[in-house]
Amino acid sequence: MEGKKILLGVTGGIAAFKSISVASLLTKLGANVRVAMTESAMKLVSPKNFHEVTKNPVTHDLWKETDLHPHIDLANFAELVLIAPATANFIAKMAHGIADDLLSTTMLALKSNTPVLIAPAMNTRMLEHPATRKNLEILKSRGVKIIEPDSGLLACGDIGRGRLPEPQDLVEFVQNFLRKKTLEGKQILITAGGTRERLDSVRFLGNPSSGKMGFALAEESAARGADVVLLTAPTFLSEPRNEKIKTIRVESALEMHDAAIRIFPNVDAVIMTAAVADFRPSKVFEGKIKKSKDNPDEKIKIELVRNPDILLELGTRKTPNQVLIGFAAEMNDLETYARDKIQRKNLDFIVANDVSKSDAGFAVDTNIATIFFRDDSKIDLPLMEKSELAGKILDQLQKIFEGGNSI
Ligand code: PMT
Repeated sequence: MEGKKILLGVTGGIAAFKSISVASLLTKLGANVRVAMTESAMKLVSPKNFHEVTKNPVTHDLWKETDLHPHIDLANFAELVLIAPATANFIAKMAHGIADDLLSTTMLALKSNTPVLIAPAMNTRMLEHPATRKNLEILKSRGVKIIEPDSGLLACGDIGRGRLPEPQDLVEFVQNFLRKKTLEGKQILITAGGTRERLDSVRFLGNPSSGKMGFALAEESAARGADVVLLTAPTFLSEPRNEKIKTIRVESALEMHDAAIRIFPNVDAVIMTAAVADFRPSKVFEGKIKKSKDNPDEKIKIELVRNPDILLELGTRKTPNQVLIGFAAEMNDLETYARDKIQRKNLDFIVANDVSKSDAGFAVDTNIATIFFRDDSKIDLPLMEKSELAGKILDQLQKIFEGGNSI
């Protein structure tokens, strides 16, 4: 982001006020941000706000006597354009090449390789109108990146799709977009969450996995250009809104097993973060198991049978060009158990986390991990956000892709 020349186009949506924070965050990250506003945007927010946070002049007038070619100046300046919010009207103008103010004229004058990101924000009916949908399709086909709007309470009081995402999310989108696409062309299967093994129609055996580690890996892989299949057991996390991530939801170990085996031949790498139950009840009771009314000492027996070990099975099917990465959730003797799993499951490396620690493992945002490799080497990683750990794991995967697989 440092020194990146970003043109922020602000059009006349009620969410224009959020763009002040976008300009501020981008500037704080080191970008050189210039803002161009439409006349409608000027009715909602003041250019002074943008001037204040970017320290750059803000432009809106195509006909100012002192500026000879403001649209060409801006187009030459821009290394990336972000239009946020993008109104239905502005999207229509972009789609049809209408140039009747400074910002729309600048869009036509951009160099052909300047990336353009737009964040549509409007009432749901306007967003879903065939005209708007068609216009967005036209822009997509020209390579414009559409930042999907959020759902929720809209300024007009309706509830639905059309909210401008929060400034932090918009900035993250830009950051990810600018990230080097080191995993471009790679297909990665990532498993997440904790499987549920049904006891009866309403109860199950489960574990505390939240899916956070797997989802962080999916987001980071996609940001690096990979196409991701996120195979997840039940989680409260919402589906990643990323066209590079295809989310498949399953419930039990058997369902995850079947999906993983089906997808495996088509991927370059698998990262198994899912906490898969090793056992399941041998019988699923129909309906709800009822307790007896008059025997407080009643006992029932539940017989458990083994689930397939998915990773072990993938290890036997792995081709020399595929990379297999496991996780190990341990409470003691981390290294011994992790190294045993690398060998038994035929892994390229394993990420071991001590789940007895309060800020590591299940359901927290942070983790403390050691990566063990086949050649006895290891990398001890300190406490960090799961998103950062995802990056460290993918750095190692990248090295294997670059150096050729060792097994
Ligand atoms: O989801 P979060 O709340 O973010 O928590 C993250 C996590 C703690 C779940 C994650 O960091 C983690 O440690 N995942 C692995 C959990 C686990 O099942 O570990 P294990 O040591 O029992 O299994 C070893 C490996 O074999 C794992 O990659 C596991 O996915 C795989 N496995 C296990 C059993 C089984 N039947 N099939 C498998 O494929």
